Amino acid sequence: MKSLHNKSFLTMLDYTPEEIKYYLELAAKLKADKKAGVEKQSMKGKNFVLIFEKDSTRTRCAFEVGAADQGAHTTYLGPTGSQMNKKESLKDTARVLGSMYDGIEFRGFAQEDVEELAKYSGVPVWNGLTDMDHPTQTLANFLTLQENIDKPLNEISFAYVGHGQSNMCNALMSGAVKLGMDFRLIGPKQYHPEGAFFEECKKVAAETGATITVTDNVEEGVKGLDVIYTGVWVTMGDTYDMWKERINTFKPYQITPEMMKMTGNPNVKFCHCLPAFHDTNTQVGKDIFERFSMNGIEVTDDVFESEASLAFQEAENRLHTIKAVMVATFSDYETL
Ligand code: CP
Repeated sequence: MKSLHNKSFLTMLDYTPEEIKYYLELAAKLKADKKAGVEKQSMKGKNFVLIFEKDSTRTRCAFEVGAADQGAHTTYLGPTGSQMNKKESLKDTARVLGSMYDGIEFRGFAQEDVEELAKYSGVPVWNGLTDMDHPTQTLANFLTLQENIDKPLNEISFAYVGHGQSNMCNALMSGAVKLGMDFRLIGPKQYHPEGAFFEECKKVAAETGATITVTDNVEEGVKGLDVIYTGVWVTMGDTYDMWKERINTFKPYQITPEMMKMTGNPNVKFCHCLPAFHDTNTQVGKDIFERFSMNGIEVTDDVFESEASLAFQEAENRLHTIKAVMVATFSDYETL
């Protein structure tokens, strides 16, 4: 395996199956070491800038805590408060930040932006989510599956249920095909995957022995699954009119106890990247529940809170996997 030192982490499509497995092994080791109180610091004196054009809880905290655990310092640049993309182009910002920092995390809109930062900054760039991809979430999910399902990742039957053109579907599909999984997208036809990213995933599947099934038929699609994954049907900035269209379209794909049973697997797991609309404890959740008379939106509360749900284990694993990506960029932790 080639060294991952100084490599930017932009999409799972850039990695070999061995490299992805290495990140997962390293994340498991870092997690075990932290829990045992014997974690070694491999990034003392490093400085990272964390750029967030969109809000974040998990990703931001994982980068900040992961860096601190490893002895590095972080600067947070939020949606306001820097010159980036306002008075200063991304290309110029990249060159400035690259001259001061050892690594850059970027969460924003366009995948091209994270690529441009990597091209012009001269330092490694980590993708913290774009409209196209969310690769660090995939690593956290795969570590969680390894911990909870008693079979190798390439034998897992995995479905993303919902929006097949979303960043989360792309991220999971690209990781799944790299590792040779049975990947299924179950959702409404007009939101089925398409375009260059999907074509690339199909090519990878042909090389690794993975399968990709795309269907709008829930009953057929869920048979024999080990994992049902979903994400929100709309994202930040969407209006209530958009909600109305999406809710009408996606309602048959809500994750319910009936859908979990339909898999025929009593041990099927439920996963979600979070945040999730499963109860009325947020204003948006409350408004939507009242307007559309729904019990949960993309998932019912009883599935979300059930023993099958790995949502919070996956959230914790954001820390260990993001830390592994940062550590692998700079050191061979195992040899310290
Ligand atoms: N899943 C995820 O990326 O969470 P945040 O938006 O809170 O970072």
